[in-house]
Amino acid sequence: MNITILGIESSCDDTAAAVVQDGYILSNIVADQEVHKKYGGVVPELASRAHQKNIIPVVEVALEQAGVRMEDISAIAFTRGPGLLGSLLVGSSFAKGFALARKIPLIEVNHLQAHILALFLREKGRNFDVPPFPFLCLLVSGGHTQLVVTRDYLEMKVIGQTIDDAAGEAFDKCAKVMGLPYPGGPAIDKFSLEGNPGAFHFTKPKTEKFDFSFSGLKTNFLYFLRDEVTKDRDFILNNRADLCASLQATIIDILLDKCIKAAEETGITDIALAGGVSANSGLRKAFGEEAARRNWALFIPAVHYTTDNAAMIAITGYYKYLKKDFAGQDSIPLARMKP
Ligand code: KG4
Ligand code: ZN
Repeated sequence: MNITILGIESSCDDTAAAVVQDGYILSNIVADQEVHKKYGGVVPELASRAHQKNIIPVVEVALEQAGVRMEDISAIAFTRGPGLLGSLLVGSSFAKGFALARKIPLIEVNHLQAHILALFLREKGRNFDVPPFPFLCLLVSGGHTQLVVTRDYLEMKVIGQTIDDAAGEAFDKCAKVMGLPYPGGPAIDKFSLEGNPGAFHFTKPKTEKFDFSFSGLKTNFLYFLRDEVTKDRDFILNNRADLCASLQATIIDILLDKCIKAAEETGITDIALAGGVSANSGLRKAFGEEAARRNWALFIPAVHYTTDNAAMIAITGYYKYLKKDFAGQDSIPLARMKP
């Protein structure tokens, strides 16, 4: 019998639903929330309201596109955390109601584990390699920057993490200073393509072992722009591509340096990237080049599975279903969680 999992993701500002059958994606629907754009960041209160409005239509489209009926769903998996509590509550309440009505298992998913398990999503008619265990994963998103030794689908150990801002926050906050729209990562990625990464030099942190830090870089970037703008009002506009390219190169260097160190110390040469920032074209390229130099086998999810989506929730639900790791109706969302 097929194992068909409906996945629900609502941890931040994307309302998403997906159907994964026996590890293969049948549908993957994401409704992003335009409402935050004018505020330059996610407004939690508005996010939960938008989830409430979007969740049923998004699930309906996911089922329709997958060509499955509600009766075909074996279990429903939802993001338990980490994330915004009001947003998580919408997805978890929906999932509980669905499981209760359909009399099917309810599965809690850790959003961070799910970003990593996106590496195992399969599409019919498309072959790609999946990482062997153990592999070292650099998980880079809007809220997290971690180095995770992944020993099995659901067995992960964080060996390094950011002591302040996440890499995605560094992209987003620096983009905001330059007047770019939220989220800033994709915009910086785009402008970087035309800029000189060596044009400006920014601070790189000194952190313990495999830990990261990005708040010093953010402050350095802010003060540098403030000083330059007092000399030339149009400094940002006139140097936008070079600023983006130089900032992006600094963030990539920080990430790559720690990953090299962790690979050397753990002896792991199967390296993976995951999370929204791993959509970055410069990061993908830099890791590709480093992998060739160091004989790493490199694994990166397709770009549309790096940012928040429900297919990654459903695939994690699939592996938990195989282990019969089910949740009760007393499950509560958690704002903070480790992978
Ligand atoms: O994983 P994700 O979708 O959500 C979280 O779990 O946080 O990551 C969102 C982050 C944002 O900070 C966004 O700016 C960043 O991923 N991001 C990028 C790119 N696409 C998304 N950062 C750099 N380059 C990109 N192309
Ligand atoms: Zn995420």
